[in-house]
Amino acid sequence: MCGIIGYAGKHGAKDILLDGLKRLEYRGYDSAGVALFEGNELRTIRAVGTLDALVRKVGPLDLKGTVGIGHTRWATHGGITEDNAHPHRSSDGKISLVHNGVVENFAAIRTFLLSQGYQFSSETDSEVLANLIAYHYQRDGKSRGKNRFLESVRRALLHVQGTYGIAALCLERPQEMVGARNSSPLVLGIGDGECYLSSDAGGFAARTKDVVFLSDGELVWTNGAEFSLTNLGQERLVAKRQELNWDPIAGERNGYSHFMLKEIFEQPQALENAMRGRFSSDGSTAHFGGLAMTPRELRQVERIVLCACGTAYYACLTAEYFIETMARIPVEVEYASEFRYRNAPMDRHTLVLVVSQSGETLDTLEAMREARRKGFRVLAITNGIGSSIAREADGGIYQHAGPEIGVAATKSFTSQLCILAMLALYLGRLRDMSFDEGVQIVEVLKAIPAQAMEVLLQNEAILHIAERHSRCRDMLFLGRQALFPIALEGALKLKEVSYVHAEGHAAAEMKHGPIALITPDCPAFFLACDDFILGKTVSNIHEIRARGGTIIAVVTRGSNIPNEIVDDPIWIPRAHAVAKPILATIPLQLFACHMGILRGCDVDKPRNLAKSVTVE
Ligand code: M6R
Repeated sequence: MCGIIGYAGKHGAKDILLDGLKRLEYRGYDSAGVALFEGNELRTIRAVGTLDALVRKVGPLDLKGTVGIGHTRWATHGGITEDNAHPHRSSDGKISLVHNGVVENFAAIRTFLLSQGYQFSSETDSEVLANLIAYHYQRDGKSRGKNRFLESVRRALLHVQGTYGIAALCLERPQEMVGARNSSPLVLGIGDGECYLSSDAGGFAARTKDVVFLSDGELVWTNGAEFSLTNLGQERLVAKRQELNWDPIAGERNGYSHFMLKEIFEQPQALENAMRGRFSSDGSTAHFGGLAMTPRELRQVERIVLCACGTAYYACLTAEYFIETMARIPVEVEYASEFRYRNAPMDRHTLVLVVSQSGETLDTLEAMREARRKGFRVLAITNGIGSSIAREADGGIYQHAGPEIGVAATKSFTSQLCILAMLALYLGRLRDMSFDEGVQIVEVLKAIPAQAMEVLLQNEAILHIAERHSRCRDMLFLGRQALFPIALEGALKLKEVSYVHAEGHAAAEMKHGPIALITPDCPAFFLACDDFILGKTVSNIHEIRARGGTIIAVVTRGSNIPNEIVDDPIWIPRAHAVAKPILATIPLQLFACHMGILRGCDVDKPRNLAKSVTVE
């Protein structure tokens, strides 16, 4: 949520900042801006709209400065206007700042600063921060000598309640850049005589892989050639440098018209990556290097609470079926935003597991922190290597799905399903699942990438189905058992990227209300591929047809669903119940993506959304 990029070094900052912003645009795209030094002058250029608007303004300018900051915004405080776009400048002109997060006590700070003669030209909480740093720079900075800028940032942040990831420049220190974080990610990149700051290592990963992930309460100062890491208590810290395992090419579109489409097609590979090296040599179970729990400890778990937001929450709902069926451990699934504020009764045999693609979703992070504060062990499944959730969890599993740039979660979802199914298998084998059943499930899981490839071959057919329905205003998604959360995910995907009103329901629940929506213009999308209670699903299809509804359905190849009751079938291969939620998801993603494109929506950057939600 909001992208930050900063550069201090020896090369032209303009292109580095614009390139970084392009890579970070998925984090927010309401407006964007840069501030960079030209000699001793600090220039700010901002534009409303997607990054292209900024590029049109900045591109033609001959700017040679080698230090600068940039930002792409997802609005929290204040409307989408140029005045509210970042970077913000203090009213004395000395400090320029980009900010990700929310300053909760901004009103009180603003009132104080107004009384000190500072002025404001935006409605944002971020401008308050720029002025607060300027205030400290002016008031008590003089005695601080060469650390004056860094010290003024530190002093300002001591007064801030809320969350922040910032990068700041000071007019009187044209070589210097200061960054800080509290609950909003910030990464330092170290190059040859140059340093980068970004809210996401993807912002500079094509230029350096040598990184330091800042922790909460840490500040970084750099003049490009050198950097130092300190905390709010003024202690000097030893930077933990890490080598980024990142393929910058994976962050490109590679010939696909949209990242969303590319990432849907990357699923066979992402599923392979989720499983690589994670099956036991006897082929009967999964194992994970980072769980940090012994088999004995895992056997003592009597209840699992799964916490997540959005699509990751639907992965958890599906996992409830996996874990309860395979491991027979009772599971509860909670929205992270609800869990963190309610005192859910849990005992010492409860294990908390959070799931987050980015590893930065604030509600999930805070739910995890609250569970840990209470003394519970928290494991995490995340795709965000070095993310806040990855670093604070007691143990966990990386997805290794590669960067997901499209705002709509696609490959990260099926990868989470795969890992959760493997975890269920592992927990089952630690309890009463037989060796033979374990071997069978391992074989089922190993077959999924090839089966996913088969489903993707129907892309063309799914495009034609989307063409037939692209004008509809409402749609129902219906499934049963482990396919019910997949129906919820199908509805979310369609809403997000095509703005068609969609609802997901357990198929049998439809009669208790949603069926009132059915008209010839409100198609029903059925996940009619379960073997277990297919007959009941077929009855639900008949109920909708009897009321004039059109039926699109994901159907198992060779199943005995009568042809005449499905208007638009999409076939998936015959597969085990564990594989079906993964395979049935792919047609829903393709359908949503094509619907969005056909309706003229930017499926990679849906309106009002951002990839990683780092505010409450
Ligand atoms: O990074 P996370 O998995 O924690 O993100 C959670 C949700 O914000 C995310 O899944 C969101 O719902 C997506 N836009 C769905 O496509």
